[in-house]
Amino acid sequence: MSLKQNIDLERLPQHIAIIMDGNGRWAQEQGQDRLFGHFRGVESVRDIVEGCAELGVKFLTLYAFSTENWDRPTKEVTGLMELLVETLRKEVPILNKNNIKMHAIGALSMLPPNARQALQEAIDMTSNNTGLNLIMALSYSSRWELVHAVKQIALDVKENLLEPENITQDTLQHYLSTSAFPDPELMIRTSGEYRISNFLLYQLAYAELYFTETRWPDFRKENLYEAILDYQKRERRFGKTSSQLQGPLTKN
Ligand code: IPE
Ligand code: IPE
Ligand code: MG
Repeated sequence: MSLKQNIDLERLPQHIAIIMDGNGRWAQEQGQDRLFGHFRGVESVRDIVEGCAELGVKFLTLYAFSTENWDRPTKEVTGLMELLVETLRKEVPILNKNNIKMHAIGALSMLPPNARQALQEAIDMTSNNTGLNLIMALSYSSRWELVHAVKQIALDVKENLLEPENITQDTLQHYLSTSAFPDPELMIRTSGEYRISNFLLYQLAYAELYFTETRWPDFRKENLYEAILDYQKRERRFGKTSSQLQGPLTKN
């Protein structure tokens, strides 16, 4: 029996963000090369994207490659970039079939030209879709994003396009690469690591965090449903008290 039927569709997170971790260890545990883990991880991506689209989740951000991941051995980085190009080319028709719109965030200029091109093609070819928004975080890190935003704000102040005293949280949000998306309500990290690893530091301010031991290549729809059900059990207080949330609005 699937856990899917227990999910309250009225209370779905509209944005789920996932740190897809554990590919390398998954492969090594079976005596395989780390790249094999990345290869199998693509199947999980396909399954989870489909699962989110079927449920009606509006935004899914996948952390696929961090700024820090550039420091991995060349063989792994090259293999990951090749896998990215191959996957993007292969998946576009499936994205279109499922009405999924692709976006990308990160220092994309650092990607090799063929990866940049495949990414741009996928974004262009899915731009008219109106279902799930799939946001790929590639060569992404939150500190990179915040520095980029601050530089841009400084430039706009210098050009008299912005007054420092008018800078609000909304202004900062506007300069982030995620400005077009709401903040994630649920962040999932696989593989038993309990950290954020430079992912959406600002945007996750009030996200519910869900950690699972399951390695990414083993993470499938049922695991996603489990995470959503866990999320739906939580009380999101945003600094208020429990009774404020439950009763008619009271100041006590
Ligand atoms: C996540 O899996 C994928 C990327 C970071 C690209 P890892 O490659 O980090 O796998 P582990 O954490 O070493 O097992
Ligand atoms: C985070 O995983 C980045 C991605 C999943 C793309 P890492 O495996 O790079 O993170 P650390 O090094 O364990 O913190
Ligand atoms: Mg890892």
